[in-house]
Amino acid sequence: MHLGLEKKVVVLTGGTKGIGRSMVKAFLEEGATVHFCSRTQSDIDSANQTLAKQYPNAKAVGAAVDISDLAKLNSWVDSCAQQSGQIDVVVANVSCFKMDNTAEHWQAAFHVDMLALWSTIQTALPHLEKTKGNIVTISSVTGRDVDFTAPSPYGAMKAAVVHYTAQLAHTLAPKGVRANTCSPGNIYIEDGVWGQVERGSPELFKKQMDLNPMGRMGKPEEIANAVLFLASERASFVSGTNFVVDGALCTGVQL
Ligand SMILES: NC(=O)c1ccc[n+]([C@@H]2O[C@H](COP(=O)([O-])OP(=O)(O)OC[C@H]3O[C@@H](n4cnc5c(N)ncnc54)[C@H](OP(=O)(O)O)[C@@H]3O)[C@@H](O)[C@H]2O)c1
Repeated sequence: MHLGLEKKVVVLTGGTKGIGRSMVKAFLEEGATVHFCSRTQSDIDSANQTLAKQYPNAKAVGAAVDISDLAKLNSWVDSCAQQSGQIDVVVANVSCFKMDNTAEHWQAAFHVDMLALWSTIQTALPHLEKTKGNIVTISSVTGRDVDFTAPSPYGAMKAAVVHYTAQLAHTLAPKGVRANTCSPGNIYIEDGVWGQVERGSPELFKKQMDLNPMGRMGKPEEIANAVLFLASERASFVSGTNFVVDGALCTGVQL
């Protein structure tokens, strides 16, 4: 299937590790220009070098930006549009993974998972309206099912992301802008969340693995493939959906 992502300009938050790193590579493989950020300058420097060699026919532009600083976030998003002349796709991927039921965690989770996501999209919106582009937000199955993280802000914010994205889909459809969510299940990355759980809490890891009916967790590439489809011309009539990619982990029926 030809996705038609060549020459599209993608802005993606959190692109040096985990699912974000796979999404950056997947967009580059399709010939897109990808602007991505993370907080760690050394990771950005090495990603910029490696990706330039790996994908000579595409353009990867990483920048060190902490999205919790909304002023810096907004000026980065604007600078992406200035540098590349347009924005076609925004992928809001970062979470601060706050899972304690404390005021501090609720505040941080709202600030990063919701407010920074809103701010990313808000700043990109005039550019997306020009290109009739689209938005993909990254939620989680934890926004859909009450799981081991409850009670905590993580799932509540992820549910809010799905709702806000549906609002965007409905209100932006007349302007030709689409908005969808991708909700990953448990995605195993050695230097990621589940790798850490495997090493730090092997019992929790085994319990969660046993809940996965495919007998395995997902791979970050499997999320990237779903996001690429949502962001592509092939999904031209798909807007407002929550694309759950979880190997049938969720037991509820999504109606
Ligand atoms: N992994 C899973 O099993 C899973 C399951 C469901 C949903 N998700 C969702 O998928 C998304 C990505 O998760 P992941 O597991 O791939 O995370 P990850 O492996 O921890 O990677 C997160 C990326 O975001 C960057 N980042 C974190 N905080 C940032 C900030 N404040 N500003 C800028 N960049 C920041 C990180 O780099 P720095 O640390 O250097 O900033 C890194 O590049 C999240 O929304 C998460 O909720 C993940």
